[in-house]
Amino acid sequence: MVFKRAARRLLCLALLLGLTTALAIAALQPQTAMEDVNAPPRYMRVPHRLHDGPTLRLATKDDLDGIMRIVRAGFPDDPEVDYRFPARGTYPEDYLKWTRLEYEHYIEQPDKFVVHLAEIPDHSGSEVVMEPVALAVWDTAVLTKANGTDEGLDERRDANKEHCKAFTESAGKAFAKYFAKYAEKQIHLWLIVTHPNFRRRGAGSVLMKWGIDAAEQKGWPVTVFASPMGELLYSHLGFRRIATKIVQVDDEPQKLTSAIMEKQSKQGLLEGLL
Ligand SMILES: CC(C)(COP(=O)(O)OP(=O)(O)OC[C@H]1O[C@@H](n2cnc3c(N)ncnc32)[C@H](O)[C@@H]1OP(=O)(O)O)[C@@H](O)C(=O)NCCC(=O)NCCS
Repeated sequence: MVFKRAARRLLCLALLLGLTTALAIAALQPQTAMEDVNAPPRYMRVPHRLHDGPTLRLATKDDLDGIMRIVRAGFPDDPEVDYRFPARGTYPEDYLKWTRLEYEHYIEQPDKFVVHLAEIPDHSGSEVVMEPVALAVWDTAVLTKANGTDEGLDERRDANKEHCKAFTESAGKAFAKYFAKYAEKQIHLWLIVTHPNFRRRGAGSVLMKWGIDAAEQKGWPVTVFASPMGELLYSHLGFRRIATKIVQVDDEPQKLTSAIMEKQSKQGLLEGLL
């Protein structure tokens, strides 16, 4: 009798132990059957901020206010602006009027110029708004004459007329000497600028990438006359400095120095080696 009761207790204990062990093992098993197998593992989900890099789009005339904000804040860091428009502080209305017209003219000539904006999302309000922070103007048809990009010289009071003329002349000469050999088979960077509050965040690189990729597809080089800050960006992107361009009026002590730079396409590099 005592033996039977002990045996039953032992059996119950063994059953209980077995059940607990089975439950514990089941709890340790991954619940794959319950999960969406197509969902990426959590550690692979990209944090939202990484999607907030600059994006690119074509500019329209509706962007002129935004363009002017970037240009006014950003271009004084290019010595070319002080050289050509030294009185823009005294005559801001002239500088703003003619500069705005200049960008309007770029946008009006899509067969020659490609005007791109780099934007970043602004999360400060209730809705996410794309904010233009940088722009680039590309000359994609260098043999086509540009209309109206040097307007107002006889009228505007912000410009140093002699410096402007010498600047245009030196650009023409340098182009003839170093880039004319490529004829229309090149993409020439006319200008690029990032608002100072948004620099070193890749906006300049995103803008440059468009021109580099477009040229690469055709097997053409990208050519540019670089400001000191521009040179830092272009060198980072693999451009080569070919020569130096100096603008100087007669014996004036003041002069403007730029780097003459280019980036060959892979095909161009290959042809150079053959
Ligand atoms: C040149 C300019 C457009 C660069 O724009 P940006 O948006 O800051 O460029 P990015 O953030 O894409 O820079 C990419 C890389 O270029 C190099 N670079 C750009 N600006 C640099 C600087 N001020 N100092 C050192 N390296 C610089 C760096 O290698 C940088 O990478 P990192 O930030 O990871 O080190 C901007 O400095 C500018 O608007 N300058 C004034 C206008 C001007 O001179 N334009 C050029 C006319 S030719």
